Amino acid sequence: MTEINDAVMDKITKVCLCKSISRATIKKAILEGAHTVQKVNAAVGSGSGPCRGQRCGPKIQGIIEQMKEAGQI
Ligand code: FES
Repeated sequence: MTEINDAVMDKITKVCLCKSISRATIKKAILEGAHTVQKVNAAVGSGSGPCRGQRCGPKIQGIIEQMKEAGQI
């Protein structure tokens, strides 16, 4: 149940507000090998909105670190 809730939350939670990119999309890019903020940005287009990644960059970095700590990447 928790995993289902996490998956739903990942889909509805926007990490990059400027470009409306979900946490699910960010995580997928990380799983596919984008292990830095710059690589995630290049893969999904985050960081290219009006804030130039000031809001989403730290959040993406945090997700990368969480996934590393969890042994997912
Ligand atoms: S929130 Fe991602 S570019 Fe602004």
